[in-house]
Amino acid sequence: MTAADQTWKASGMLDGRVALVTGGRGGAGRAICERFVAEGAEVYAADLTGEGSIGSVGAPGTFLRLDVTSEDEVRSAMATVEAAHGKLDILVNAAGIEMELTIEETSLEQWNRIMAINVTGTFLPSKYALPLLRRSSHASIINFGSYDGFIADPKLAAYCATKGAVHALTKAMACDHGPEGIRVNAICPGYIDTPMLEQFLPEGVDSAAGRAEAEYVHPLRTIGTPTDMANLVNWLASDEARYATGQLWVLDGGLSAQIQQMRFP
Ligand SMILES: NC(=O)c1ccc[n+]([C@@H]2O[C@H](COP(=O)([O-])OP(=O)(O)OC[C@H]3O[C@@H](n4cnc5c(N)ncnc54)[C@H](O)[C@@H]3O)[C@@H](O)[C@H]2O)c1
Repeated sequence: MTAADQTWKASGMLDGRVALVTGGRGGAGRAICERFVAEGAEVYAADLTGEGSIGSVGAPGTFLRLDVTSEDEVRSAMATVEAAHGKLDILVNAAGIEMELTIEETSLEQWNRIMAINVTGTFLPSKYALPLLRRSSHASIINFGSYDGFIADPKLAAYCATKGAVHALTKAMACDHGPEGIRVNAICPGYIDTPMLEQFLPEGVDSAAGRAEAEYVHPLRTIGTPTDMANLVNWLASDEARYATGQLWVLDGGLSAQIQQMRFP
């Protein structure tokens, strides 16, 4: 258990809400499902497989098989939720992949794949969730952007482009659907300790050297945890955030606030 895991105490703030979390068996998704369940929500963890990137043992929420790039599967997932509850209160678009490549190294097939999962995979669940969200008086969509949607990490060109698109889509959706009482926000994490980060850090997040180096570049001198992401997502899903919409909520331990010189030891 990390310090971040002790930051919250369930208070039933999502009692009676119905939530669907894409990428719900991944690092972020699983922590979000766990928090939502603890707060009293009925939760669908939608992912490619029950294993996702984390595995199914002790996994919170009801697993729903969903490929976010498939219009048919998205329609069918929303039909399942509608049949069981007649409404949806919270949609979290957390499914995503990254690729460490410059544009020259990126094939058209890879480009199309990352766009399909990260961008189309935000568009489709949002589009087909709208009719169900309109039946809620607490409707909230939370998208996953990234600090990489504002500033670039080397060799993440296509990934950065997808996150910039998610940021713009978030604002556009918030403007279009705010008048219907549907809030739309994006969280924009920096380095968070999930299987995706393990893939990104050259020496792996579990190697002492790789972790120490990654921690050092943050003003808070630490990497975030899935619980940190779930805390922010939970707040955005709740009535405490009733006046928050159309915003890009950066969660990066101060990483993007600093100038390069801070990184000199
Ligand atoms: N971990 C970080 O440091 C970090 C930083 C910034 C943003 N993010 C974003 O956070 C989100 C969650 O990432 P994570 O760190 O939990 O990664 P993760 O790899 O642990 O989880 C991603 C999940 O998405 C699922 N997924 C992939 N393709 C899918 C598809 N076509 N349909 C349905 N599900 C699919 C995977 O099975 C996996 O369970 C992503 O959008 C990612 O870009 C992560």
